[in-house]
Amino acid sequence: MRLILLGPPGSGKGTQSERLSDEYRLARISTGDMLREEVSLGTELGKEVKGIMELGKLVPDEIILELIRSRLDRDEASSGHILDGFPRSVAQARALDAVLEEKGTRVDAAIALEVDDEVIVKRLSGRRSCPVCGAVYNLLTAPPNTVGICDLCGEALILRDDDREETVRERLRVYRSETEPLKEYYAKTGLLQEIDGEGAVDEVYERVKSAIERLN
Ligand code: AP5
Repeated sequence: MRLILLGPPGSGKGTQSERLSDEYRLARISTGDMLREEVSLGTELGKEVKGIMELGKLVPDEIILELIRSRLDRDEASSGHILDGFPRSVAQARALDAVLEEKGTRVDAAIALEVDDEVIVKRLSGRRSCPVCGAVYNLLTAPPNTVGICDLCGEALILRDDDREETVRERLRVYRSETEPLKEYYAKTGLLQEIDGEGAVDEVYERVKSAIERLN
């Protein structure tokens, strides 16, 4: 199964794709996580993309496509994957189609999580992330056991640089202009599944699973 999770920043793509990856044994490929890893390791690529990400803009396609190609070539992605945060534009979607075609496969579904902008701003102001293991919390809905500390590895939690309100609003603007047209792109081929992304995490997960089960 080859799935794409679409949706605005903070719509729950990471949260839902972690669960789907565990339940359906699919490789989870998040371009945002890959880029943040490069930034935290201080690589040349990380230095190149850091400022772009802090401004809430899109990283250039050639960088993203190189990262995606290398991940899709790894064995773990061969039996199926969930793409979280990629593609983010029609150009990226076309490039993905071409890469998958070379491998003799294709996208099975694009699941779009729908969440109101004001809900997103609230969610992201409460998100806290672990800079070491990547675990994600929310001060309102999924707090850590000890304030400010990761339950899994004991590291101090951080507010992502791009989760400040001004940057979240820019990310939303970029999403509406560059990424949302992808819904039409996937609707034309019958691959789009639109899901209400509001409500409790478990409720959203049940909706996503129902959409996947309808594929079979
Ligand atoms: P990326 O990391 O992909 O960010 P994003 O798409 O903006 O998504 P987020 O990680 O912010 O949110 P999410 O939807 O995963 O929500 P989450 O589950 O964490 O990209 C970051 C940057 O990298 C981009 O701005 C760009 O610069 C660059 N980039 C990445 N990919 C690129 C590409 N393909 N092309 C070009 N540039 C690229 O949930 C959010 C919070 O809400 C959490 O606290 C969570 O606990 C909570 N939550 C989740 N679900 C619920 C719920 N149902 N109810 C209440 N709270 C909830």
